[in-house]
Amino acid sequence: MRRQPPAKNELEAIETASCDELTALQTERIKWTLGYAYDNVAAYREKFEKAGVHPDDFHQLADLANFPFTTKDDLREAYPFGMFAVPREQLVRIHASSGTTGKPTVVGYTRGDLDTWTALIARSLRAAGARAGDIVHNAFGYGLFTGGLGVHYGAEALGCTTVPVSGGLTQRQVQLIEDFGPVIIAVTPSYLLAIADEFDRQGLDSRKTSLRIGFHGAEPWTEAMREQIEERFDIDALNHYGLSEIQGPGVATECIETKDGLTLWEDHFYPEIIDPDTAAILPDEQIGELVLTTLTKEGLPMIRYRTRDLTRLLPPTARSMRRIDRITGRSDDMLIIHGVNVFPTTIEALILEHDTLSPHYVLERRTRNHLDELTVVVEACAELSASGEAAMVTAGDALQQHIKAMIGINTMVKVVLKGSVERSVGKAKRVIDLRQ
Ligand code: DLL
Repeated sequence: MRRQPPAKNELEAIETASCDELTALQTERIKWTLGYAYDNVAAYREKFEKAGVHPDDFHQLADLANFPFTTKDDLREAYPFGMFAVPREQLVRIHASSGTTGKPTVVGYTRGDLDTWTALIARSLRAAGARAGDIVHNAFGYGLFTGGLGVHYGAEALGCTTVPVSGGLTQRQVQLIEDFGPVIIAVTPSYLLAIADEFDRQGLDSRKTSLRIGFHGAEPWTEAMREQIEERFDIDALNHYGLSEIQGPGVATECIETKDGLTLWEDHFYPEIIDPDTAAILPDEQIGELVLTTLTKEGLPMIRYRTRDLTRLLPPTARSMRRIDRITGRSDDMLIIHGVNVFPTTIEALILEHDTLSPHYVLERRTRNHLDELTVVVEACAELSASGEAAMVTAGDALQQHIKAMIGINTMVKVVLKGSVERSVGKAKRVIDLRQ
Protein backbone atom coordinates (compact mmCIF):
# COMPACT_ATOMS: atom_id res chain seq x y z
CA MET A 1 0.00 0.00 0.00
CA ARG A 2 1.36 3.38 -1.01
CA ARG A 3 1.34 6.11 1.62
CA GLN A 4 -1.47 8.70 1.70
CA PRO A 5 -0.77 12.45 2.02
CA PRO A 6 -1.35 14.14 5.40
CA ALA A 7 -4.93 15.29 6.07
CA LYS A 8 -5.51 19.03 5.82
CA ASN A 9 -5.90 19.36 9.59
CA GLU A 10 -2.45 17.83 10.06
CA LEU A 11 -0.78 20.68 8.16
CA GLU A 12 0.57 23.85 9.74
CA ALA A 13 -1.71 26.85 9.07
CA ILE A 14 0.99 28.57 6.99
CA GLU A 15 1.14 25.62 4.56
CA THR A 16 -2.31 26.57 3.29
CA ALA A 17 -2.23 30.34 3.99
CA SER A 18 -3.44 32.77 1.34
CA CYS A 19 -0.99 34.50 -0.97
CA ASP A 20 -1.63 37.81 0.85
CA GLU A 21 -0.90 36.29 4.23
CA LEU A 22 2.32 34.78 2.94
CA THR A 23 3.41 38.03 1.29
CA ALA A 24 2.75 39.97 4.51
CA LEU A 25 4.82 37.47 6.52
CA GLN A 26 7.68 37.49 4.00
CA THR A 27 7.75 41.30 3.89
CA GLU A 28 7.92 41.54 7.66
CA ARG A 29 10.59 38.84 7.90
CA ILE A 30 12.80 40.21 5.12
CA LYS A 31 12.67 43.62 6.76
CA TRP A 32 13.79 42.05 10.00
CA THR A 33 16.57 40.04 8.31
CA LEU A 34 17.99 43.04 6.45
CA GLY A 35 18.14 45.15 9.61
CA TYR A 36 19.49 42.28 11.67
CA ALA A 37 22.24 41.45 9.16
CA TYR A 38 23.19 45.13 8.79
CA ASP A 39 23.41 45.61 12.54
CA ASN A 40 25.31 42.42 13.31
CA VAL A 41 27.51 41.43 10.34
CA ALA A 42 30.23 43.83 9.20
CA ALA A 43 30.42 42.19 5.76
CA TYR A 44 26.74 42.96 5.09
CA ARG A 45 27.04 46.51 6.38
CA GLU A 46 29.96 47.14 4.03
CA LYS A 47 28.20 45.54 1.07
CA PHE A 48 25.02 47.55 1.63
CA GLU A 49 26.95 50.78 2.00
CA LYS A 50 28.92 50.10 -1.16
CA ALA A 51 25.67 49.46 -3.02
CA GLY A 52 24.10 52.62 -1.53
CA VAL A 53 21.23 50.79 0.16
CA HIS A 54 20.00 50.69 3.73
CA PRO A 55 17.53 48.29 5.39
CA ASP A 56 15.14 51.26 5.75
CA ASP A 57 14.86 51.32 1.93
CA PHE A 58 12.98 48.03 2.03
CA HIS A 59 9.18 48.44 2.02
CA GLN A 60 7.89 45.67 -0.23
CA LEU A 61 9.19 42.41 -1.70
CA ALA A 62 10.24 44.03 -4.99
CA ASP A 63 12.68 46.27 -3.06
CA LEU A 64 14.84 43.25 -2.25
CA ALA A 65 16.22 43.45 -5.81
CA ASN A 66 18.14 46.60 -4.80
CA PHE A 67 20.23 44.73 -2.24
CA PRO A 68 23.54 43.07 -3.18
CA PHE A 69 23.98 39.33 -3.71
CA THR A 70 25.94 37.08 -1.38
CA THR A 71 28.20 34.37 -2.82
CA LYS A 72 30.22 31.41 -1.63
CA ASP A 73 33.31 33.61 -1.94
CA ASP A 74 31.90 35.93 0.73
CA LEU A 75 31.73 32.95 3.08
CA ARG A 76 35.23 31.82 2.12
CA GLU A 77 36.65 35.26 2.79
CA ALA A 78 35.01 35.28 6.20
CA TYR A 79 36.42 31.81 7.04
CA PRO A 80 35.73 30.41 9.52
CA PHE A 81 33.36 32.49 11.66
CA GLY A 82 33.34 35.98 10.12
CA MET A 83 29.80 36.04 8.68
CA PHE A 84 28.01 35.01 11.85
CA ALA A 85 25.51 37.46 13.29
CA VAL A 86 25.88 36.24 16.87
CA PRO A 87 28.93 35.74 19.12
CA ARG A 88 30.41 32.28 18.54
CA GLU A 89 29.30 31.22 22.04
CA GLN A 90 25.68 31.41 20.92
CA LEU A 91 26.17 28.91 18.12
CA VAL A 92 25.26 25.44 19.26
CA ARG A 93 26.21 23.59 16.03
CA ILE A 94 28.67 23.98 13.18
CA HIS A 95 28.55 22.19 9.81
CA ALA A 96 30.91 22.60 6.88
CA SER A 97 31.09 21.68 3.23
CA SER A 98 34.08 19.60 2.19
CA GLY A 99 35.28 22.26 -0.26
CA THR A 100 36.77 20.67 -3.37
CA THR A 101 39.32 23.47 -3.55
CA GLY A 102 40.72 25.42 -0.66
CA LYS A 103 39.00 25.90 2.64
CA PRO A 104 35.61 24.50 3.55
CA THR A 105 32.54 26.69 3.86
CA VAL A 106 31.53 26.90 7.51
CA VAL A 107 27.95 27.40 8.65
CA GLY A 108 26.60 27.77 12.18
CA TYR A 109 23.27 27.52 13.97
CA THR A 110 21.80 29.07 17.09
CA ARG A 111 19.43 26.97 19.18
CA GLY A 112 16.56 28.82 17.50
CA ASP A 113 17.96 27.91 14.04
CA LEU A 114 18.12 24.24 15.01
CA ASP A 115 14.49 24.38 16.18
CA THR A 116 13.40 25.87 12.84
CA TRP A 117 15.47 23.35 10.88
CA THR A 118 14.03 20.46 12.85
CA ALA A 119 10.47 21.71 12.30
CA LEU A 120 11.03 22.11 8.56
CA ILE A 121 12.42 18.59 8.18
CA ALA A 122 9.46 17.23 10.13
CA ARG A 123 7.16 19.19 7.81
CA SER A 124 9.01 17.85 4.76
CA LEU A 125 8.89 14.22 5.92
CA ARG A 126 5.17 14.58 6.64
CA ALA A 127 4.67 16.01 3.13
CA ALA A 128 6.42 12.89 1.83
CA GLY A 129 3.82 10.73 3.60
CA ALA A 130 5.74 9.91 6.80
CA ARG A 131 3.88 9.73 10.12
CA ALA A 132 4.69 9.42 13.81
CA GLY A 133 5.64 5.86 14.63
CA ASP A 134 7.24 5.12 11.25
CA ILE A 135 10.77 3.79 11.21
CA VAL A 136 13.14 6.10 9.29
CA HIS A 137 16.33 4.54 7.94
CA ASN A 138 18.62 7.55 7.64
CA ALA A 139 21.49 6.75 5.28
CA PHE A 140 22.54 10.36 4.71
CA GLY A 141 26.07 10.87 5.99
CA TYR A 142 26.45 11.97 9.61
CA GLY A 143 29.18 14.49 10.33
CA LEU A 144 30.02 17.89 8.94
CA PHE A 145 27.63 17.21 6.02
CA THR A 146 24.18 18.56 6.89
CA GLY A 147 22.20 15.60 5.50
CA GLY A 148 22.54 13.08 8.33
CA LEU A 149 22.01 15.22 11.42
CA GLY A 150 19.57 17.54 9.62
CA VAL A 151 17.18 14.72 8.72
CA HIS A 152 17.80 12.97 12.03
CA TYR A 153 16.34 15.60 14.36
CA GLY A 154 13.38 16.32 12.09
CA ALA A 155 12.49 12.63 11.92
CA GLU A 156 12.66 12.39 15.71
CA ALA A 157 10.52 15.52 16.09
CA LEU A 158 7.85 13.99 13.86
CA GLY A 159 7.81 11.05 16.25
CA CYS A 160 9.52 8.58 13.95
CA THR A 161 11.77 5.81 15.20
CA THR A 162 14.98 7.13 13.69
CA VAL A 163 17.81 4.78 12.75
CA PRO A 164 21.06 6.77 12.33
CA VAL A 165 22.77 4.42 9.86
CA SER A 166 24.77 7.07 7.93
CA GLY A 167 26.32 6.19 4.55
CA GLY A 168 28.53 3.21 3.78
CA LEU A 169 28.77 -0.45 4.84
CA THR A 170 26.26 -1.38 2.16
CA GLN A 171 25.78 -4.98 3.30
CA ARG A 172 24.72 -3.72 6.70
CA GLN A 173 22.29 -1.24 5.10
CA VAL A 174 20.52 -4.21 3.51
CA GLN A 175 20.51 -6.18 6.74
CA LEU A 176 19.04 -3.29 8.75
CA ILE A 177 16.33 -2.67 6.14
CA GLU A 178 15.42 -6.37 6.20
CA ASP A 179 15.52 -6.70 10.00
CA PHE A 180 14.12 -3.37 11.28
CA GLY A 181 11.32 -2.83 8.76
CA PRO A 182 11.69 0.88 7.95
CA VAL A 183 8.91 2.67 6.05
CA ILE A 184 11.12 5.55 4.90
CA ILE A 185 14.66 5.63 3.61
CA ALA A 186 16.46 8.97 3.51
CA VAL A 187 19.47 8.68 1.19
CA THR A 188 21.05 10.12 -1.95
CA PRO A 189 19.41 8.59 -5.04
CA SER A 190 22.74 7.29 -6.35
CA TYR A 191 23.53 5.47 -3.12
CA LEU A 192 20.07 3.92 -2.98
CA LEU A 193 20.82 2.32 -6.36
CA ALA A 194 24.03 0.89 -4.92
CA ILE A 195 21.92 -0.53 -2.06
CA ALA A 196 19.53 -2.01 -4.66
CA ASP A 197 22.46 -3.80 -6.31
CA GLU A 198 23.45 -5.21 -2.93
CA PHE A 199 19.94 -6.65 -2.51
CA ASP A 200 20.39 -8.37 -5.90
CA ARG A 201 23.84 -9.62 -4.97
CA GLN A 202 22.46 -11.22 -1.80
CA GLY A 203 19.60 -12.76 -3.78
CA LEU A 204 16.99 -10.68 -1.91
CA ASP A 205 13.98 -9.04 -3.55
CA SER A 206 14.23 -5.27 -3.08
CA ARG A 207 10.55 -4.88 -4.06
CA LYS A 208 9.47 -6.91 -1.05
CA THR A 209 10.91 -4.73 1.74
CA SER A 210 8.83 -2.73 4.24
CA LEU A 211 9.92 0.52 2.53
CA ARG A 212 7.17 2.77 1.14
CA ILE A 213 8.89 6.15 0.76
CA GLY A 214 12.26 7.29 -0.54
CA PHE A 215 13.35 10.76 0.62
CA HIS A 216 16.11 11.75 -1.78
CA GLY A 217 18.33 14.70 -2.49
CA ALA A 218 21.75 16.28 -2.05
CA GLU A 219 22.61 15.67 -5.73
CA PRO A 220 21.03 16.19 -9.13
CA TRP A 221 18.95 13.29 -10.45
CA THR A 222 16.47 12.75 -13.25
CA GLU A 223 12.86 11.62 -13.67
CA ALA A 224 14.28 8.49 -15.32
CA MET A 225 16.26 7.78 -12.15
CA ARG A 226 13.09 8.27 -10.09
CA GLU A 227 11.30 5.68 -12.24
CA GLN A 228 14.13 3.18 -11.77
CA ILE A 229 14.17 3.65 -7.98
CA GLU A 230 10.38 3.36 -7.71
CA GLU A 231 10.44 0.24 -9.84
CA ARG A 232 13.28 -1.44 -7.98
CA PHE A 233 11.88 -0.82 -4.49
CA ASP A 234 8.16 -0.44 -5.21
CA ILE A 235 8.13 2.90 -3.34
CA ASP A 236 7.31 6.56 -3.94
CA ALA A 237 10.65 8.32 -4.45
CA LEU A 238 10.42 12.01 -3.53
CA ASN A 239 12.79 14.82 -4.28
CA HIS A 240 14.17 16.95 -1.46
CA TYR A 241 16.38 20.02 -1.77
CA GLY A 242 18.56 22.10 0.46
CA LEU A 243 22.04 23.52 0.85
CA SER A 244 24.28 24.16 3.84
CA GLU A 245 24.71 27.88 3.26
CA ILE A 246 20.95 28.38 3.60
CA GLN A 247 20.30 25.68 6.21
CA GLY A 248 20.99 22.15 4.90
CA PRO A 249 18.10 19.87 3.92
CA GLY A 250 14.59 21.19 4.61
CA VAL A 251 14.47 24.05 2.10
CA ALA A 252 12.13 22.57 -0.54
CA THR A 253 10.40 19.23 -0.82
CA GLU A 254 8.02 17.22 -2.96
CA CYS A 255 4.56 16.41 -1.67
CA ILE A 256 3.43 12.82 -2.12
CA GLU A 257 0.00 13.76 -3.48
CA THR A 258 1.42 15.62 -6.50
CA LYS A 259 5.10 14.66 -6.99
CA ASP A 260 5.37 17.62 -9.33
CA GLY A 261 8.39 19.57 -8.18
CA LEU A 262 9.53 20.81 -4.80
CA THR A 263 7.38 23.08 -2.61
CA LEU A 264 9.72 25.74 -1.28
CA TRP A 265 9.11 26.60 2.36
CA GLU A 266 8.54 30.25 1.57
CA ASP A 267 7.76 31.23 5.15
CA HIS A 268 11.49 30.74 5.90
CA PHE A 269 13.22 31.23 2.52
CA TYR A 270 12.46 33.79 -0.17
CA PRO A 271 13.31 32.69 -3.72
CA GLU A 272 14.29 34.65 -6.82
CA ILE A 273 15.50 33.35 -10.18
CA ILE A 274 18.17 35.30 -12.03
CA ASP A 275 19.98 35.06 -15.32
CA PRO A 276 23.31 33.53 -14.23
CA ASP A 277 25.25 35.73 -16.68
CA THR A 278 23.60 39.13 -16.32
CA ALA A 279 22.06 38.67 -12.83
CA ALA A 280 18.78 40.12 -14.15
CA ILE A 281 15.70 38.82 -12.31
CA LEU A 282 13.67 36.40 -14.42
CA PRO A 283 9.90 35.91 -14.22
CA ASP A 284 8.39 32.75 -12.72
CA GLU A 285 8.52 29.70 -15.03
CA GLN A 286 11.82 30.79 -16.63
CA ILE A 287 14.92 28.72 -15.95
CA GLY A 288 17.84 30.44 -14.27
CA GLU A 289 19.92 30.47 -11.11
CA LEU A 290 18.10 30.14 -7.80
CA VAL A 291 18.80 32.96 -5.32
CA LEU A 292 17.62 32.52 -1.75
CA THR A 293 17.18 34.89 1.17
CA THR A 294 16.71 33.43 4.65
CA LEU A 295 13.81 34.97 6.57
CA THR A 296 14.37 33.68 10.10
CA LYS A 297 18.03 32.62 10.38
CA GLU A 298 19.81 34.01 13.46
CA GLY A 299 23.31 32.51 13.28
CA LEU A 300 24.01 33.00 9.59
CA PRO A 301 21.44 35.18 7.85
CA MET A 302 21.84 34.96 4.07
CA ILE A 303 20.75 37.77 1.82
CA ARG A 304 20.22 37.00 -1.87
CA TYR A 305 22.55 33.99 -1.78
CA ARG A 306 23.50 32.83 -5.28
CA THR A 307 23.07 29.05 -5.07
CA ARG A 308 24.37 28.37 -8.63
CA ASP A 309 21.58 25.78 -8.87
CA LEU A 310 19.57 25.99 -12.06
CA THR A 311 15.80 25.66 -11.88
CA ARG A 312 12.61 27.68 -12.28
CA LEU A 313 9.80 28.83 -10.02
CA LEU A 314 6.41 27.19 -10.54
CA PRO A 315 2.99 28.11 -9.14
CA PRO A 316 1.73 26.42 -5.95
CA THR A 317 -0.13 23.09 -6.13
CA ALA A 318 -0.28 20.84 -3.04
CA ARG A 319 0.53 23.75 -0.69
CA SER A 320 0.03 27.46 -1.09
CA MET A 321 3.75 28.12 -1.53
CA ARG A 322 5.55 28.14 -4.87
CA ARG A 323 7.51 25.18 -6.14
CA ILE A 324 10.92 24.86 -7.75
CA ASP A 325 11.37 22.48 -10.65
CA ARG A 326 13.78 19.56 -10.45
CA ILE A 327 17.29 21.03 -10.47
CA THR A 328 19.11 20.26 -13.70
CA GLY A 329 22.51 20.95 -12.17
CA ARG A 330 24.76 23.63 -10.83
CA SER A 331 26.15 26.22 -13.16
CA ASP A 332 29.64 25.04 -12.06
CA ASP A 333 28.87 21.47 -13.17
CA MET A 334 27.94 22.51 -16.67
CA LEU A 335 30.28 21.09 -19.28
CA ILE A 336 30.84 22.93 -22.51
CA ILE A 337 31.64 20.31 -25.11
CA HIS A 338 32.31 21.62 -28.63
CA GLY A 339 30.34 24.73 -27.73
CA VAL A 340 27.31 22.84 -26.44
CA ASN A 341 26.23 23.13 -22.80
CA VAL A 342 25.81 19.71 -21.24
CA PHE A 343 24.80 18.73 -17.71
CA PRO A 344 25.52 15.27 -16.32
CA THR A 345 21.74 14.87 -15.84
CA THR A 346 21.21 15.32 -19.61
CA ILE A 347 23.46 12.33 -20.25
CA GLU A 348 21.90 10.38 -17.35
CA ALA A 349 18.43 10.70 -18.87
CA LEU A 350 19.71 9.23 -22.15
CA ILE A 351 21.62 6.37 -20.47
CA LEU A 352 18.48 5.32 -18.64
CA GLU A 353 16.60 4.97 -21.93
CA HIS A 354 18.88 2.00 -22.67
CA ASP A 355 17.63 -1.10 -20.87
CA THR A 356 20.97 -2.86 -21.11
CA LEU A 357 22.83 -0.06 -19.29
CA SER A 358 22.86 0.64 -15.57
CA PRO A 359 22.49 4.05 -13.86
CA HIS A 360 26.09 3.90 -12.62
CA TYR A 361 28.18 6.23 -14.78
CA VAL A 362 30.90 8.87 -14.77
CA LEU A 363 31.86 11.46 -17.33
CA GLU A 364 35.58 11.80 -18.02
CA ARG A 365 36.73 15.14 -19.30
CA ARG A 366 39.95 15.51 -21.31
CA THR A 367 41.47 18.03 -23.67
CA ARG A 368 42.89 17.17 -27.07
CA ASN A 369 44.18 19.89 -29.39
CA HIS A 370 42.70 22.47 -27.01
CA LEU A 371 39.25 20.99 -27.43
CA ASP A 372 37.26 19.42 -24.64
CA GLU A 373 36.48 15.77 -25.06
CA LEU A 374 33.97 13.75 -23.13
CA THR A 375 34.01 10.04 -22.43
CA VAL A 376 30.91 8.49 -20.92
CA VAL A 377 31.89 5.50 -18.82
CA VAL A 378 28.79 3.50 -18.02
CA GLU A 379 28.22 0.11 -16.48
CA ALA A 380 26.44 -2.65 -18.34
CA CYS A 381 23.57 -4.32 -16.54
CA ALA A 382 24.12 -7.92 -15.39
CA GLU A 383 22.78 -9.52 -18.56
CA LEU A 384 24.86 -7.41 -20.92
CA SER A 385 27.94 -7.89 -18.71
CA ALA A 386 27.54 -11.62 -19.25
CA SER A 387 27.10 -11.33 -23.02
CA GLY A 388 30.70 -10.55 -23.88
CA GLU A 389 32.81 -7.73 -25.26
CA ALA A 390 31.15 -7.41 -28.68
CA ALA A 391 27.68 -6.88 -27.23
CA MET A 392 29.03 -4.23 -24.87
CA VAL A 393 30.68 -2.36 -27.74
CA THR A 394 27.41 -2.45 -29.69
CA ALA A 395 25.53 -1.04 -26.68
CA GLY A 396 28.14 1.72 -26.38
CA ASP A 397 27.76 2.62 -30.06
CA ALA A 398 24.00 2.84 -29.62
CA LEU A 399 24.35 5.27 -26.71
CA GLN A 400 26.95 7.30 -28.59
CA GLN A 401 24.60 7.73 -31.55
CA HIS A 402 21.73 8.56 -29.23
CA ILE A 403 23.79 11.31 -27.54
CA LYS A 404 24.82 12.66 -30.95
CA ALA A 405 21.20 12.71 -32.12
CA MET A 406 19.74 14.29 -28.99
CA ILE A 407 22.46 16.71 -27.83
CA GLY A 408 24.48 17.10 -31.02
CA ILE A 409 27.90 16.29 -29.56
CA ASN A 410 30.45 13.61 -30.35
CA THR A 411 31.40 11.66 -27.26
CA MET A 412 33.21 8.45 -26.61
CA VAL A 413 31.21 5.82 -24.80
CA LYS A 414 32.88 3.05 -22.85
CA VAL A 415 30.55 0.35 -21.56
CA VAL A 416 32.23 -1.44 -18.66
CA LEU A 417 31.39 -4.57 -16.67
CA LYS A 418 28.81 -4.39 -13.90
CA GLY A 419 30.41 -3.28 -10.64
CA SER A 420 33.38 -1.47 -12.16
CA VAL A 421 32.23 2.15 -11.75
CA GLU A 422 33.12 3.27 -8.24
CA ARG A 423 30.06 3.71 -6.01
CA SER A 424 29.82 6.71 -3.72
CA VAL A 425 28.10 6.30 -0.38
CA GLY A 426 26.78 9.87 -0.45
CA LYS A 427 26.83 12.41 -3.24
CA ALA A 428 27.85 10.80 -6.51
CA LYS A 429 30.81 12.35 -8.30
CA ARG A 430 29.72 12.38 -11.94
CA VAL A 431 32.50 14.32 -13.60
CA ILE A 432 36.16 13.35 -13.50
CA ASP A 433 38.37 16.12 -14.75
CA LEU A 434 41.40 14.67 -16.51
CA ARG A 435 42.35 17.88 -18.29
CA GLN A 436 46.02 18.78 -18.00
O1 DLL B 1 23.24 18.52 0.05
C1 DLL B 1 21.78 19.31 1.81
C2 DLL B 1 20.87 18.17 1.58
C3 DLL B 1 20.99 17.02 2.34
C4 DLL B 1 19.85 18.27 0.66
C5 DLL B 1 20.12 15.97 2.16
C6 DLL B 1 18.96 17.21 0.48
C7 DLL B 1 19.09 16.08 1.23
P1 DLL B 1 25.22 20.70 0.51
O2 DLL B 1 26.15 19.59 0.80
O3 DLL B 1 25.58 22.06 0.95
O4 DLL B 1 23.83 20.42 1.18
O5 DLL B 1 24.98 20.68 -1.04
C8 DLL B 1 24.01 21.53 -1.60
O6 DLL B 1 23.58 19.99 -3.42
O7 DLL B 1 23.34 23.52 -3.91
C9 DLL B 1 22.63 21.44 -5.01
O8 DLL B 1 23.64 21.73 -5.95
C10 DLL B 1 22.76 20.00 -4.58
N1 DLL B 1 21.43 19.46 -4.23
C11 DLL B 1 20.89 19.31 -3.01
N2 DLL B 1 19.65 18.74 -3.11
C12 DLL B 1 19.42 18.56 -4.44
C13 DLL B 1 18.34 18.03 -5.20
C14 DLL B 1 23.01 19.35 0.91
N3 DLL B 1 17.24 17.54 -4.65
C15 DLL B 1 23.96 21.34 -3.09
N4 DLL B 1 18.47 18.02 -6.55
C16 DLL B 1 22.90 22.19 -3.72
C17 DLL B 1 19.59 18.51 -7.15
C18 DLL B 1 20.55 19.02 -5.14
N5 DLL B 1 20.63 18.99 -6.49
